[in-house]
Amino acid sequence: MPLYSILRWLAFLECAFLVSSAVFSSNEESALDSYINNLIGCKDIPGLGLAVVKDDDVFTKGYGLADKEKQIKATSSTVFCVGSVTKSMTAMLLARLISSGKYRLRWTTKIKDVLGPDYTFIDDCITDSVTLEDILSHRTGLGSADILLQAGIPEYVTREQMMKNLHYLPKLQEFRDSFFYNNIVYILAAHVAEKRANKTWEQLMKEELLVPLNMTSTVILDERHSETLAVPYIVDKTGKLYKSDERLYSLHPFGPSGSICASADDMTKWLNLITSKGKIAEGAERIISEYVFNGQFNIKSVLNTMWANAYSLTQPQFPVAFDSLGYGYGWFVSYYRGHRVLHHSGSLYGYSCKITYLPDRSSAFVFFTNGPGETKFDETISPVFYYMLDLMLGYPSWLNETTACSYPAPWRNYRSKRSSQDIMSVSGKELEEMDMHTGQYSHPLYGSVTITIINNTLHIRYGLLLTGKLIPTSSSFQLQLFPPLRDVFLSILNVSFKNLSNKNKYQHIEFLSLFEKYTFSRVDYDGDVSGSNIVHCQLKLVFILIILMQYI
Ligand SMILES: *[C@@H]1O[C@H](CO)[C@@H](O)[C@H](O)[C@H]1NC(C)=O
Ligand SMILES: *[C@@H]1O[C@H](CO)[C@@H](O)[C@H](O)[C@H]1NC(C)=O
Ligand SMILES: *[C@@H]1O[C@H](CO)[C@@H](O)[C@H](O)[C@H]1NC(C)=O
Ligand SMILES: *[C@@H]1O[C@H](CO)[C@@H](O)[C@H](O)[C@H]1NC(C)=O
Ligand SMILES: *[C@@H]1O[C@H](CO)[C@@H](O)[C@H](O)[C@H]1NC(C)=O
Ligand SMILES: *[C@@H]1O[C@H](CO)[C@@H](O)[C@H](O)[C@H]1NC(C)=O
Repeated sequence: MPLYSILRWLAFLECAFLVSSAVFSSNEESALDSYINNLIGCKDIPGLGLAVVKDDDVFTKGYGLADKEKQIKATSSTVFCVGSVTKSMTAMLLARLISSGKYRLRWTTKIKDVLGPDYTFIDDCITDSVTLEDILSHRTGLGSADILLQAGIPEYVTREQMMKNLHYLPKLQEFRDSFFYNNIVYILAAHVAEKRANKTWEQLMKEELLVPLNMTSTVILDERHSETLAVPYIVDKTGKLYKSDERLYSLHPFGPSGSICASADDMTKWLNLITSKGKIAEGAERIISEYVFNGQFNIKSVLNTMWANAYSLTQPQFPVAFDSLGYGYGWFVSYYRGHRVLHHSGSLYGYSCKITYLPDRSSAFVFFTNGPGETKFDETISPVFYYMLDLMLGYPSWLNETTACSYPAPWRNYRSKRSSQDIMSVSGKELEEMDMHTGQYSHPLYGSVTITIINNTLHIRYGLLLTGKLIPTSSSFQLQLFPPLRDVFLSILNVSFKNLSNKNKYQHIEFLSLFEKYTFSRVDYDGDVSGSNIVHCQLKLVFILIILMQYI
């Protein structure tokens, strides 16, 4: 080859290197850009961040807006909250601690061997046998207290206090029988690390992973604010997007289940840790043993039909098959067109996230959005997920710009997660009976609920954030929430009152969601109250308020 041709060839190479990343060809990248820009337009997604790692190459990009009011563009350095993808990060932290050999931990370590006799469960068999593995794979069968996570936990309740009260959780299915997603018990895995290392989960996350990985813009909610955090948006009943309430972004004891926020740039470092099976950067220092690392991605609990259906596409209804079989430690284990796919979703009041690892291609990707959130999760996240899978695996996409916007139609009807509320007016007759309901009810783990009468309607206050009114239905009441939970609390709760006393006051209030029942007992100020510190704290607070009010 003459020198001139060689120089031209080199110039071409350099040019090609500049115009497209090594992960995608420039054609692939422009097709991806137009697919995503079209989708965020038709689905009212404010902004989206994407990070991809394939072998040693990385690709990051931001689409749309990080802030609609200020018209700030989302970039690869915009920070989005990853929600429950935090769970896989908590599992990775444990992989790191197990690998270090310093903490006498294994995936099969029993909780009681680390935490001792102060931590028990409703069932002695669970107390005696439950391991990190059982918790990380959601197979304890225990209730998940999601109502508590959503209502918001007062500042004075510590992670340790809450964990010592887990014996109040009901048993919803048999221990180790199958998968049952659980936010509150997941914290216990982090608490085991806290006890062994004598450091908070937040400290450990930073010292063991975020700092070594140089994830400099990653934040943990409740700890540090990020200047580049995308503004989160949610939709109201009419489908209109509005800026979400910042009080929602405090998970407090629930941190290890969902409080990490990161940029696409930072997530390439995290994805690299995954594709290299535990190294800081390809070819560099190993911080997690490969054997321990691999443990995270084996099926440890089996999905029952409901979960498997929710996380699968089947032929011939859909043109491709996506089979979800089980769950490792913070990862669903699935097959897409016959390829092994490990993935997890996250969502946090407007933020949505999907992380995906293709172990046979040593590639991984993650993307996140700042709206419209969980009510539209499947229709906004799935079209990007399946497009990315095809792109990474080298298939032409079965979704195009039309079907991305109509997804899951024409293959399946869209199932709204929100059922229409049946609102009735309160009659005068019921007003006379309202006094039977009013007062304060409490539960040692779930906290305290107050029922009052405002404008002839029963109103409720629970935790830091839950307020609403009780609408009478044929059988009981339906809880109609006020902001900030109005558009983010997905399950409509039925509320009923039980056990009328001889003083004509109900003794219990019961919340019924799809999977769980939460019962609170009346707190009589002059009565005897047994139970935990939480109840005592709240009682003290009530007494102080009463005393203060007498002097104002
Ligand atoms: C745990 O750390 C605290 C300070 O952070 C220290 O005072 C305490 O002695 C430590 N406990 C153990 C058992 O190492
Ligand atoms: C860490 O990341 C920052 C950018 O976020 C970069 O400027 C710095 O050079 C990185 N440090 C190392 C040691 O790679
Ligand atoms: C998009 O895909 C659908 C279903 O596969 C097909 O019917 C339609 O013609 C496609 N539209 C375009 C513009 O390619
Ligand atoms: C009570 O009703 C009045 C008149 O309908 C209304 O102005 C007021 O805001 C209501 N109060 C509350 C707390 O809902
Ligand atoms: C409430 O009443 C039911 C029967 O209606 C009874 O089984 C239950 O024990 C009562 N609970 C309490 C705490 O009194
Ligand atoms: C809630 O109550 C309505 C009737 O008021 C009923 O149709 C529905 O099944 C109940 N939901 C649950 C979870 O029990």
